[in-house]
Amino acid sequence: MNIQANKLSLQEIQADATLVFILNQNLEHRWVEQSVDFTSVGFKAKEDSSFFDPTHKILYLALERYDIDLLREVAAKGIRTLKKYPFTSFKCGICDDSKNPKEALEAILSGFLLGNYENNAYKSKKEESKLKKIIFSLECYSGQQLPKNIFESCLKDALAMADGVNLARSLVNKIPEEATPEFLAQTAKNLAKEYDLKVKVRDEKYLLEHGMGAFYAVSKASVHPPRLIHLTYSPKKPLKRIALVGKGLTYDSGGLSLKPADYMVTMKADKSGGCAVLGIINAVAKMGLNLEIHGIIGATENMIGGNAFKPDDVLTAKNGKTIEVRNTDAEGRLVLCDCLCYAQEFEPDYIIDIATLTGACVVALGEYTSGVLGFNHELKEQFLKAAKHSGELAATLPFNRHLRKLIDSKVADICNISSTRYGGSITAGLFLGEFIEEKYKDKWLHLDIAGPAYVEKEWDVNPFGGSGAGVRMVLEFLKGLARH
Ligand code: BES
Ligand code: ZN
Ligand code: ZN
Repeated sequence: MNIQANKLSLQEIQADATLVFILNQNLEHRWVEQSVDFTSVGFKAKEDSSFFDPTHKILYLALERYDIDLLREVAAKGIRTLKKYPFTSFKCGICDDSKNPKEALEAILSGFLLGNYENNAYKSKKEESKLKKIIFSLECYSGQQLPKNIFESCLKDALAMADGVNLARSLVNKIPEEATPEFLAQTAKNLAKEYDLKVKVRDEKYLLEHGMGAFYAVSKASVHPPRLIHLTYSPKKPLKRIALVGKGLTYDSGGLSLKPADYMVTMKADKSGGCAVLGIINAVAKMGLNLEIHGIIGATENMIGGNAFKPDDVLTAKNGKTIEVRNTDAEGRLVLCDCLCYAQEFEPDYIIDIATLTGACVVALGEYTSGVLGFNHELKEQFLKAAKHSGELAATLPFNRHLRKLIDSKVADICNISSTRYGGSITAGLFLGEFIEEKYKDKWLHLDIAGPAYVEKEWDVNPFGGSGAGVRMVLEFLKGLARH
């Protein structure tokens, strides 16, 4: 998509179609020559109402109130609608509230770029859209002119962000027969080539030789060998070093504690955390953030077979801790605990893991919100602020010492499941916390993206399929670190 800015007013700009935001109940907008009498057609500024005037080729999109999140969502809806027409270009204005035109532009751009994504890789007939160009008028709705250089820097960041999200989405959407651990490793190698990153890919032998018995156990029954992927972006004088650890289960059948048929469908998306890590590094490299980022992905399949790991097994993780397995479907924490031990060897300033870890998180927060867990209250709050700005929904789930006792084991140091049915996303987080050394306890965040990672009914800027959950909020958090 070619996106441009123009100093001219919206009316003076030439394009096939026009997108106009309607601001509130008073039907305020920036299109002076109103082409339709809204009241006569019964148009009201309800949350998701829109109206297309075919004579003047104007799409009116209503925002019930001025709200950045609503603006982003409505922009996504706008581009989806305009794509259905044979237009090659459209123009629009920056629908600001006079205080923060940059924020408004960011929201509109991310709405367009994320809403434009199509999950059609496996359709034999693809409907090609003709839309190739968007022209913004720099004359904002509030009347002020947005400087061209601000527009350009917003656009650069938005394109990098959207490329990252859309890369994660495309990888998640790939079927497990194609998106194997080796395929994810190859994807990391391709990114390394493109952006001059360092990449190391470790195989099952490495896992065994380096005592990563928990990760190894999960991988045993798969015909696709596991990969520990370590992709590093390192600018010359980085301000901070960050480890991003992603759960990359290319398929989670549940293992011998097999999932029921209905619960297994969509488990190709259990690699979403790992794909988010690839998306984030892609965006960070494009933006040129001054941070050293280590992306560590535990890529494997959780399958069944004669050599599968079993409930009753006792595994030994990289840090020597022993783990009693009582349910092979709680495999994500087994892969992640070894990857977290590996990540701490690089002495990072922050460690963030991203995982579709628990169904319990979806029960707790719903399908739209990610869980944020960790020992450091301030860090969690700082992260929530970044998430809010990014447009992703996130909420904290608090640890407590009572829940910690529920993962005690009678036979090993710790058990891979809790002894009760409740608070499952917190006990999973506490399990991971057991593998964080004392000196990193305050530097670690765990993001459970099980709810929003995979979309079965489109919402907000997300089409059907992988959403790229985690990419935007982590990127926003990293941008904050790079500013200080
Ligand atoms: N990958 C699943 C979690 C999940 C569930 C992600 C639904 C997305 C949507 C994870 O490996 C899992 O199966 N967790 C179990 C843990 C349980 C056995 C303690 C779960 O949540 O049921
Ligand atoms: Zn599982
Ligand atoms: Zn899983």
